[in-house]
Amino acid sequence: MGNSKQILAVDHGRANPALAVAAEMRRGEDKLAELLNSREALLAEICRYLVNAGGKRLRPTFVLLVYRACGGGEARLDDAIDAAIAMELIHSATLLHDDIIDAGTVRRGKPSAFALYGLGPSLVAGDFLFARAFELCGRFEDELVRTAAQACIQLTEGEVMEGRLRRNAQVTLEDYLRVISRKTASLFHAGAKVAAQLAGASAAAPAMGRLGDAFGLAFQMIDDLLDVLGPEEKIGKPVGSDVRAGIPSLPVVLGVARDSRLSGLLGADGPGFERALELLRAPDVIERARAMAVEQVAIARETLTELKPSLYRDSLAVLIEEQVYREL
Ligand code: FPP
Ligand code: MG
Repeated sequence: MGNSKQILAVDHGRANPALAVAAEMRRGEDKLAELLNSREALLAEICRYLVNAGGKRLRPTFVLLVYRACGGGEARLDDAIDAAIAMELIHSATLLHDDIIDAGTVRRGKPSAFALYGLGPSLVAGDFLFARAFELCGRFEDELVRTAAQACIQLTEGEVMEGRLRRNAQVTLEDYLRVISRKTASLFHAGAKVAAQLAGASAAAPAMGRLGDAFGLAFQMIDDLLDVLGPEEKIGKPVGSDVRAGIPSLPVVLGVARDSRLSGLLGADGPGFERALELLRAPDVIERARAMAVEQVAIARETLTELKPSLYRDSLAVLIEEQVYREL
């Protein structure tokens, strides 16, 4: 790495994750834009609408940082960029499908693709993005493709399990952890593992899988917390969407265990919804949820000690910490 890049990637003495892999991400963005093209204008339009709606590119940034932090050089950089973009494509596909399933009308602060284009077109656009991801990475070694496919299987299982537990006041913390391991952490797990293997650091792959799990769990826990805390401008969707939909989010699961009045309010509308939100904002619910996320952040940070010190490793540490700070 050149000296000027090194200076750029450190912001006021602190590693900056986006800057550390800015050059790699620029190549990734070009690739992503290309892959959204279709012979059917509507498909390209829907995909561009979602993918360019201001997503954080958290998953590709994470994959590229893991690749570099594991010592990945130029030899397989193209593959690492493809893996990073495949993660974003798969994630985008799940968002299109998730908004159909949840009848979600707002995504990233804008009308969702489902609201704008309807069920059929959004469904097929999700399939299109999903197929693009495997078109991109299907040439990888069998084991890597299997890792990615297993993550996708878990995504579907997480979504269905979450649906099964909707408005269920008996839901346990164990259920919750299983849902979010599948629906969120699985993709981070697979991305990190694939990145380590592409970097030629197979010995680090299990630790990177654990990093992906802990990072994904922390990310989802904070997302769940933000759903009840808002504000809407920050989270890009109406406050309390999970509560209104009866989704067993972290505050909901912690709240029903603590206060039986919540049981009848899951999925309520009007005054019942306002009351549920108020109960879920109880300081001990918020504190407990935050502490659980912080615990995962500590596990994620611990896995980094298995890597050699580098700017990329520091950037991963910052990326992980930012997950908790974004809620403050
Ligand atoms: C969004 O989470 C949803 C997911 C991460 C998983 C969705 C999975 C599917 C729809 C299965 C289809 C899978 C493939 C591979 C195409 P969230 O509901 O917590 O986030 P949100 O609050 O932003 O909607
Ligand atoms: Mg959702």
